[in-house]
Amino acid sequence: MDINLKGRSFLTLKDYTPDEIRYLLDLARTLKENKRQGKMGNSLKGKNIVLIFEKTSTRTRCAFETACYDEGGHATFLSNSQMGKKESLEDTAKVLGRFYDGIEFRGFSQKTVEDLALHSGVPVWNGLTDLYHPTQALADLLTLMENTDKPLSECKFTYVGDGRNNVANSIMIICAKLGMHACIVSPKELWPDKDLQNYCEDLAKSTGAKITVSHELDAVLGSDVLYTDVWVSMGEEDKFKERIELLKDYQVNKALVEKAQNPNLIFLHCLPAFHDLNTAMGLEVYEKYGLKEMEVSDEVFRAPYSKVFDQAENRLHTIKAVMVATIGSREMV
Ligand code: CP
Ligand code: NVA
Repeated sequence: MDINLKGRSFLTLKDYTPDEIRYLLDLARTLKENKRQGKMGNSLKGKNIVLIFEKTSTRTRCAFETACYDEGGHATFLSNSQMGKKESLEDTAKVLGRFYDGIEFRGFSQKTVEDLALHSGVPVWNGLTDLYHPTQALADLLTLMENTDKPLSECKFTYVGDGRNNVANSIMIICAKLGMHACIVSPKELWPDKDLQNYCEDLAKSTGAKITVSHELDAVLGSDVLYTDVWVSMGEEDKFKERIELLKDYQVNKALVEKAQNPNLIFLHCLPAFHDLNTAMGLEVYEKYGLKEMEVSDEVFRAPYSKVFDQAENRLHTIKAVMVATIGSREMV
């Protein structure tokens, strides 16, 4: 494949062609295999990256840092900067572009990540915004590829829950790009944005994908992946009551898994997940609303077909692929 992503930002999967996405997934597979064999790369030697987080993170921050160090680069975690307070985003982007070879941003507005790319002059990677979580979707697809013998074009990828959040949006886009069956199961109030659905349906005409959006739980029939995410995303913490009301019948539990009728099904979740009471927030929800588990039952979360920790590890390999492809000096060790 004659693909060159040098100098490109990774803001949304919309900007990437199906072949470019396949290229990143193949590169991630190779980098993962190399690391397993103890072969560390040096594609980011002499490169500096900066990580900006307006929202909290475990996986994304650690993946960017470890991936960078694995490839010989240096990472700065920028907390407490002047950006947006004493210095405009434009000026900050111009400054960071003088110091760094790449910028990761996680935060609220998609416009922020786009403006950073516009003004910094270096590749910017979206580590999650209210609208998209594109590096997550790469890890999700890599995990599916590792767990199926079927071509992706024959796979049904079902997302159950808040069908209009950043994770659902990115899954719908990547499945549409790769010619897969994307199935979003959620109450009508939480269906994907109509423009995004139209975009994915248009794309599906050329890629052979299929897009289903349904409020019926029976729509999970034949799924290869059952996926869910938190009912309340970062920045929406005032919405627990209404989301629990809307989503209480959409928990991924054993009954829902059985509805899929696929012995080879895998369960995925981007994490963090509310599957027990071992978190402060989970406990607060239990005390207020009496729920011990939310989007996924503990039973499903811990089942052998749950691949959530492989998926979490794959954040490292896919994020590494994005950085190596866009700012790396060499792509392979
Ligand atoms: N899945 C994910 O983005 O995890 P973090 O919020 O821990 O980065
Ligand atoms: N939809 C979630 C994803 C967390 C990784 C959120 O935005 O909080």
